[in-house]
Amino acid sequence: MISDKMQKELNEQIALEGYASFLYLSMASWCDHQGMEGCARFMHRQSDEERMHMLKIFHYLSEVDGRALAPAIKQPPQDFESVRSLFEQVYAHEQKVTASINKLVTKSLKEDDHSTYNFLQWYVEEQREEEALMRTILDKIKLIGDGPQSLYYIDKEIEAVNAQAAKAESAEEG
Ligand code: FEO
Repeated sequence: MISDKMQKELNEQIALEGYASFLYLSMASWCDHQGMEGCARFMHRQSDEERMHMLKIFHYLSEVDGRALAPAIKQPPQDFESVRSLFEQVYAHEQKVTASINKLVTKSLKEDDHSTYNFLQWYVEEQREEEALMRTILDKIKLIGDGPQSLYYIDKEIEAVNAQAAKAESAEEG
């Protein structure tokens, strides 16, 4: 059994993860349109991951006899100033998600809700990894530069990140 308050907050987290999924989908489309296929593939993968993050909470709420609510779809931005600005926005959004997860963890402890506390630990770890990945990408973009001559090299770097992620996934499926 989960408290009404915790249920409400987890539903808000569902909405935040759902929004991230649509924001990254919009970013994938923008990258594709710029001819940056590696970046587009990366953002599609991130979008799929966010949907998975959303569904994980959805299923958890059912498991603890709560009620998961499908969130309203807010229109994400469609245009981005540059690839660097796009990744800065991803990083900022991930920081927002981390802050929200941290608040949930604190609340679960206050309520002595150890089940939710344990459940949230997966997200704590995931956020640490996501933020580190985005920082690495932003560092690379800063090194390469993001003028028109650099876009090809940025895309190649992101494609290397995609290849690593695909390798890690197939090792997990093992
Ligand atoms: Fe599920 Fe990347 O926040």
